[in-house]
Amino acid sequence: MTGKSRGGSGAVSIKDVARHAGVSIATVSNALNRPELLSAATRGRVLSAIDQLGYVRSESARQLRAGRSRVLGLLVLDMGNPFFVDVARGAEDAAHAADVGVMLCNSGQDPAAEAMYLSLFAEHRVRGVLVTPTNVSGENLAAFRRRGIPYVYVDRVAADDEDSCSVSVDDVAGGELAVRHLLDRGHERIAFVTGPMSLAQCRDRLAGARSALSGAGLPEEALSVVETTTLDVTAGRDAGSRLLGLRERPTAVFCANDLLALGVLQAMFAAGVRVPEDIAIVGYDDIEFAAAAAVPLTSVRQPARQLGRKAAELLLAETSGQPGHTHERVVFQPELVVRRSTLRG
Ligand code: RIB
Repeated sequence: MTGKSRGGSGAVSIKDVARHAGVSIATVSNALNRPELLSAATRGRVLSAIDQLGYVRSESARQLRAGRSRVLGLLVLDMGNPFFVDVARGAEDAAHAADVGVMLCNSGQDPAAEAMYLSLFAEHRVRGVLVTPTNVSGENLAAFRRRGIPYVYVDRVAADDEDSCSVSVDDVAGGELAVRHLLDRGHERIAFVTGPMSLAQCRDRLAGARSALSGAGLPEEALSVVETTTLDVTAGRDAGSRLLGLRERPTAVFCANDLLALGVLQAMFAAGVRVPEDIAIVGYDDIEFAAAAAVPLTSVRQPARQLGRKAAELLLAETSGQPGHTHERVVFQPELVVRRSTLRG
């Protein structure tokens, strides 16, 4: 018998499988959910019928019966950024250990896309969502919360949101590490190339940079800020060109992430400006391309995979059905990884 479709809906039904295997519908269900109740021969007959007919069980029907999905949603800011790939890998580490899958979506920093994906996750009744928010005011997440699906902030402190866990890195400390390193190398005219200040990560890294300046007795003006709309290599190249056009060119650049830093590095190369001899560069995230860059990049390392794993563990615990879950704010510490892009002489 071919795997052609059966039943009114056009899909192979559990009834078709039972008829084909010569067993009851309950036996088919046990073969899938409680195989220990069946003999090997009976289970084999059922699995063979499933394979021959091409039956796929209805996950939504299973969820309705079990009351819990086996899928977590993960909504990241930029799928093109290796940082979020590592976050996703960590989330999968924890989810797969619990026999749960991860549905990865990309908001591209667009609040409208964020709202669409949150709605999609709700329609699919995912078990919970891990999200790096784009939406400053948080109305997307407020609307999502009203639909009753738990979520955990990833890479963001849930400062004023008592209804969720969060996992993040102390970005203020990260900004301080970057600029203190440059100050220690004798730089006093530093630029900060950042994405939109609507992102808390960028605001916190700038706050840390300014704190390092203040700690060294330097005025805020010693740090010139170049803001971009996105945090990718193209925006970094554009920012690098703008830096080269400044009347007083900085001797060092701190970038809000490694993709921006790689773009600034490209702009310097194109203009014949030597790194680090003429200008030093520090990135943020320590993605794998930082070490592999033409001039290996000094970067503030975020434990991205641990972030993703911990966030998924918190969400799985919250949605385990066990009583007594209390929301946690987990904050990891950044680490400065020094490479050639800041070492003169
Ligand atoms: O998405 C922008 C940045 O925020 C990433 O590079 C990572 O640093 C995150 O914290």
